[in-house]
Amino acid sequence: MIKLTNITKTYQSGKVMVRALNNISLEIKKGEFILLVGPSGSGKTTLLNIIGCLTRITKGSFRLADQEVSHFPDHFLSALRRKKMGFIFQQFNLLSGYSTWENVTLPLLPTGISEKKRKARAMKLLEELNLETRADFMANELSGGEQQRAAIVRALINDPEIILADEPLSNIDMVNVNIVMDILAELKKKGKTIITSFHDPKTLLSRLGDRTVSFQSGNIAKITDGNMNL
Ligand SMILES: Nc1ncnc2c1ncn2[C@@H]1O[C@H](COP(=O)(O)OP(=O)(O)OP(=O)(O)O)[C@@H](O)[C@H]1O
Ligand SMILES: [Mg+2]
Repeated sequence: MIKLTNITKTYQSGKVMVRALNNISLEIKKGEFILLVGPSGSGKTTLLNIIGCLTRITKGSFRLADQEVSHFPDHFLSALRRKKMGFIFQQFNLLSGYSTWENVTLPLLPTGISEKKRKARAMKLLEELNLETRADFMANELSGGEQQRAAIVRALINDPEIILADEPLSNIDMVNVNIVMDILAELKKKGKTIITSFHDPKTLLSRLGDRTVSFQSGNIAKITDGNMNL
């Protein structure tokens, strides 16, 4: 379903050229749960951003459902992202001037679905994540764990096939860690393709993985089948 072949991604920062990913190849099947591990700066977020069509590759081939998408124009990539991807960011990226329900339905705005339907869909998901009482709160009035759950609702609102989660457990407490873990386990059961990064290999998240991809300075150091059984 996702096929990355000899991908290189470089960033130019002033005079410095950073090679964030160095000629990596990776194939991900529908329904797989992939764990991305590796030290800070090793390329995990860069890979998630590439798969999520948020950033373009510098070299190589990126195929999604048998289509080469690396040369798609921007508006095509946005449409693809809206239709297929749910992105849970490292920072939650909620808009503070908007309420919880408005935030979580932002991805639905370009679809033209009526406000009533958008709100109904939001309320259903907010309820599943025990957030329905916070629907009308402004995003900045939510606790860290609530913001994380709202960010998850926003990622799931378009019922995406592919869920990309960048360190989804890093800024929340144990109770919320368990809630997020349960959600990811549930999504896995539903057959969603899930790709998630994390720092700490001892996190419970490692139990869910079908394969673990270890990054080292922009290279894939190894790919192990199954989780790490820690
Ligand atoms: N927009 C950018 N401009 C310049 N360099 C960048 C940019 N984004 C990332 N990089 C560089 O690319 C490398 C890989 O970054 P990336 O964010 O993918 O790492 P990471 O594995 O997600 O790290 P962390 O665990 O800290 O989140 C780093 O050296 C980083 O400084
Ligand atoms: Mg990162």
